[in-house]
This record gives sequence, structure tokens and C-alpha cells, in this order.
Amino acid sequence: MKIFYLAAEAEPYIKVGGLGDVAGSLPHALQEITAPNSIDIRVAIPFHGALQQQPPPLKFLTNLFIPHYPQPLQAQVYELENSSVKTYFINGNCFAQDAPVYSADASLDGIKFTFFSLACLELAQTIDWQPDIVHANDWHTAPALYALLVQDETFFRHTGRVLTIHNLPYLGHGAGEALTEFGLPPALNSPLPVWAQQLPLPLGIYAADRIIAVSPTYAKEIQTADFGAGLQEYLCSRRNDIVGILNGLDLKVWDPSTDPYIAVTYDLHNLDKKENNKKLLLKELGWQPSPDTPLIAMITRLDYQKGIDLALSALRKMKDIPWQALILGTGNAAVEQAVAQLQLDIPDRYKAILRFDPHLSHRLYAAADMLLIPSRYEPCGLAQMIAMRYGTVPVGRATGGLRDTIQDSGNPHTSTGYLFESASSDALEETLRRAIQNFAQRRAWRKMQRNGMMQDFSWARSARQYLNVYQEVVEKKILDPVVQEGSS
Ligand code: GLC
Repeated sequence: MKIFYLAAEAEPYIKVGGLGDVAGSLPHALQEITAPNSIDIRVAIPFHGALQQQPPPLKFLTNLFIPHYPQPLQAQVYELENSSVKTYFINGNCFAQDAPVYSADASLDGIKFTFFSLACLELAQTIDWQPDIVHANDWHTAPALYALLVQDETFFRHTGRVLTIHNLPYLGHGAGEALTEFGLPPALNSPLPVWAQQLPLPLGIYAADRIIAVSPTYAKEIQTADFGAGLQEYLCSRRNDIVGILNGLDLKVWDPSTDPYIAVTYDLHNLDKKENNKKLLLKELGWQPSPDTPLIAMITRLDYQKGIDLALSALRKMKDIPWQALILGTGNAAVEQAVAQLQLDIPDRYKAILRFDPHLSHRLYAAADMLLIPSRYEPCGLAQMIAMRYGTVPVGRATGGLRDTIQDSGNPHTSTGYLFESASSDALEETLRRAIQNFAQRRAWRKMQRNGMMQDFSWARSARQYLNVYQEVVEKKILDPVVQEGSS
């Protein structure tokens, strides 16, 4: 089976968010769970400015011309050397050296990602590699699927189209004109709502044979008004094509028994050693460590989606009980400001570290007793899985992947963490108080930590589900390619 996996970012080459983690792991996991040479999975990512500045070892492969009005645009393709998964880097004039992966200018991003999406299809034809599946991710690469549908090239007549949605509300607003410039017309006669007929993500969803949401709960949520970004009715009509597959975790990177960034390594059988990480970190921060005071961590993008405001107002109201809290992250300026303000108010028990610091994040997962994740929506979320693996108990909002990965039975002995239903600071406060109370019951707390550490968050499990989806799509195409294309 030949799979062409397209993404805007992929670890370890370039990463901004969770998409980069997934695109860096899933292709390898697919290769690992299949017999040698039975799957030919190739990844393509844009040759972003940051990558050009410090490129991995690459060799030039080919030039391409991408149809575009008023004139075609040139792309250069490089291939990664010595990689177990074949990976292409696609460059062109729209990838400036100093340009960020995602810019504030939506029309610029529209051009760059449409260019990239179409270049991937052009590349497959140039190297005469007929993929069985083109797998796009989020709005950035969705134009590739739509192009496959409307351009209807003989070369791709058996190619199935799979789309993963990592974050539905990012529909690709502002990219409409770019689609037209690259010869992709609005889907005027489609069942999409009129306002969505020239937006990359809705067009990709429309063109996809299978639509994957990054958790089973998110797969259901996107079919409701609260989470559907206006597409809920259309998504409901496609319910049989929607699948929820939970992301996995890179178990080699996130392992408290080998993690090179943490002061004291530990595992399920010597969990007492975890405490040393807390002591050392708190001392470094000038705080008095106390085994009876829970350390609450938040490690997150500072974005409205993440519900940080809910956490801040809950913490303000909880000065009557002992806790210490640390928040690490960067993002939206207004959220950063609110996060910094609380430190001015209660510096003795709350600290904000406003920077992107992957190494410190490892230390914090190891040091903390609880991880707070009050997201308004969370398609999957990685932080709660990392926390559980590190014996750090997650307290999260019952949405998306948080609901699917955190078990809260109301009894610590049979739970892995805490969930609250409504996106309000009151609900969060109530649950956090419950957690802090349980923290004092040492044996029950230990059991909950262990329950979390024993969960299977491996990529192998998710990769098997992806493989099933690919197989289903391929079988359908082979049985009746014409009907499939006509009915999409
Ligand atoms: C997005 C979502 C996050 C998910 C990630 C990877 O960043 O917000 O919940 O884990 O994509 O799928």
C-alpha cells in the first residue's frame, strides 16, 4: 500500500503544535506495525524558512511547475537522506527564509499551503508514484484532496482521499482567493453551506472518502453546534464516513525511567523517587517544597481554546487551601498578560514562566503532582497522556480526547484523573478542590498515579486503526472507483 502523508509540520524537522507531533510519529508507527516493504509511506512537508536556515541532510530531487494564474509557479523538491520514512521538503518562492510556519496574514498562508498541496500531487506524477491514499491534515493540506476530486486526473483514478481534522475551527479563512489562483473553483453545487464552498478545510472534508477526528469524542462533538464550527449539519450527513482515532504518544521521548532532561528518573515500581524532582525544581524557583502541598502544573499554548482564564479565576478563589501552581507556555498576548498578572497578586504560591521551553516541560511533568487542562475544546491533547505516564494526575475538562483518555469514576482507586463537565471556573474549582482533598490520602493517590502510568498510549494502537481506514478506502476504490468519485 502506498500512502502519501501531507502535513504543514512534522517532528523532528519542524514543530509548532500537536500536528507536528502526530506527523512526526504516525508514519513511523505505521511502518513499524506492518511487514517489511508492505507499506510505502512517504511524508511531504513545506521547506519552511526555519528549516532552510538549519536544514537536515537533503538531496535535490526535482523541479516542478505548479499551475497558477497568471503564470505557473516553480517548486523545488528535496529528499531527506538516510531516513527510514521517505520525506520530501517542498520549496518555492512563497517560503521566505524569515517567514514563520503560520503567519498572521491568512491570504499569505493560503497561497503557501495551496501551492504546497498542489506541488505534492505534481511530485507524485513527476516521479510516477501512484499513491493508493493521499492523507491530508487540517486545512493546510486539504486543497490536495479537493484538487484530486475536481481535477479527476487518470493518474490518480485509484487514489483514495483521507483527511485528519486536528482542529476544526481553523477552516482556512482568507485562503479562498488563493484556491482560485491555483485553478480550484468554489464547490458551488456541493451540499456544503454556501459560506464554506471556498474554504480549504470544508472542501477537503467534502472531497475526503474518510474523515478522521483525533479522538472518538471529538468525532461526535464536531457533529454538534457547540463544536461544529458551522459545519455540523454537513458533518452529520457524512456521519458514516467519520472515524475517531486517538493520537498516540512517543513512548521513547516520554519515559520517566529514561528521560535525560529530568533530575531523577523513576518508574512504576519506585514512584517515591518522583518527589525528588519536585524538591529540586521548587528549590530552584526559590519555593519551599512540602510533600503535603500539591504542585499543580499547566503546560500549554496560551490560547483561548485552552481555558486558562477559567483556571486563573478558580485559583484566585482557592487561597484557603494549600497548593502551589506553575504555568509554562507562550501564546496570545492578552492571555499571557492575565497569566503574568496573577503572579503579581500571589507570588508566594503561583509562578508564570512565559516561554517555550521543551526541556523545562519534561522537568515539570516529572515534578508536578497534578496537571490542569481546562480546555474549552480539545480534539485530542497530548499533555494529559504525558502527565499520566509521569505519574502526574490530570485534572481536565470532559471534552474531546480528554474525555477519552482520563477516567474519573469518582473513586481514586479506579480512576486515572479528574474530569469536570462545564467550561466554567466554578466547575473547575469544585473538581480541583476534590483533587486536592484526595491528594492528602496518600495510598489512594498512589493508586491513581499507578493507574495512569499503566495506560497504553502507544502509537501502535492508533496506527492499526489508521491502517484499517486506509484498507477500507482502498477496497472501496478498487470495487467501484467510478461510483466512488461520482458520489463524493
Ligand atoms: C491540535 C489539537 C490538539 C491535538 C493536536 C494533534 O493541536 O488542538 O487537541 O492533540 O492537534 O492532533
